[in-house]
Amino acid sequence: MRVLDRLEQLYAIGGGPGANRIGYSAEEDEAHVLVRGWLDDAGFEVDVDEAGNLFGRSAESGGVWTGSHLDTVPQGGKFDGALGVVAAIEAVERAGRGSVVAFREEERGCVGSRAFVEHGPLPDAFVELHIEQGPRLAVLGAPLGIVTAIVGYARGEVVVEGTAGHAGTTPMDLRDDALAKAARGMVRLEEEARRIPEAVATVGWIEAEPGGINVIPGRVRYSVDVRAPDQARLDQLIALAGIDHSRAVPPVDLTSSVIEVLRGEVESRALPAVELASGAGHDAGVLARAGVPTGMLFVRSLAGGVSHSPEELSSMEDIELAIDVLAAALLKL
Ligand code: GLV
Ligand code: MN
Ligand code: MN
Repeated sequence: MRVLDRLEQLYAIGGGPGANRIGYSAEEDEAHVLVRGWLDDAGFEVDVDEAGNLFGRSAESGGVWTGSHLDTVPQGGKFDGALGVVAAIEAVERAGRGSVVAFREEERGCVGSRAFVEHGPLPDAFVELHIEQGPRLAVLGAPLGIVTAIVGYARGEVVVEGTAGHAGTTPMDLRDDALAKAARGMVRLEEEARRIPEAVATVGWIEAEPGGINVIPGRVRYSVDVRAPDQARLDQLIALAGIDHSRAVPPVDLTSSVIEVLRGEVESRALPAVELASGAGHDAGVLARAGVPTGMLFVRSLAGGVSHSPEELSSMEDIELAIDVLAAALLKL
């Protein structure tokens, strides 16, 4: 099937393990070149904006857009982002209406879509098809889900200072170990986040300096990613983590008129119309915040819902249903 073949072609870029198309890397560039060829083959009018976002407009483009991103996390999966772009091409070709977009660098803060909404012109409506990246649809036995809202998130770096010294000759009560202090801060954040309903906090990387096996760490840096479904809980996490709030991305509701169209298409196929909020960030959130009527269609994740991992999985049957719903929605919006 063409969709699977295209997902495999994107996945093969740069070699494994997993997908490694970091935003604005040579690998993400290569993915954009590949997709540009598919847009040309479809007969779409293709262009690229200053941020490198890729657009393909069908002859009757209308103002309705669909798409996602082509970058990945390190050692990511086959479906996150790529599925939304590949499926968008199928749906626009089938509907004979709409435009496809592949935004740049979604994973590290929706860089491409944020740049895009600064200059526009904005579409009349946007629908992003995406793998769910969680277990909820599989638990409910539903192939598709309709997204109602996207969590807010904030990311930052915490620096902890101490005093470097000799690991053998500095008594424990005379040390100022930056890594021991950082570890306490990380555990505290993890414990506090567990007490806030539906909140999550993650430390994804850490670096200790000078980094010698027999040297007390003098300085430690670590990343923090915190998320919550409302601003009050997000603010609480930002304060706990001690990170800068100025780059925080607020939670956003998706648009009820687009949700209704997607629900109608799902129900008319005798499928359960499960509505759910997204715990992952998406370009759709950026467009919705910019005032574009926006919806998202989730495809059930298999393999326990694992994502940001090479184990990420959806079935071709579910993907086919999602493309069918998306194509129909493009004609209704
Ligand atoms: C993007 O995929 C994110 O939510 O981290
Ligand atoms: Mn994604
Ligand atoms: Mn992702």
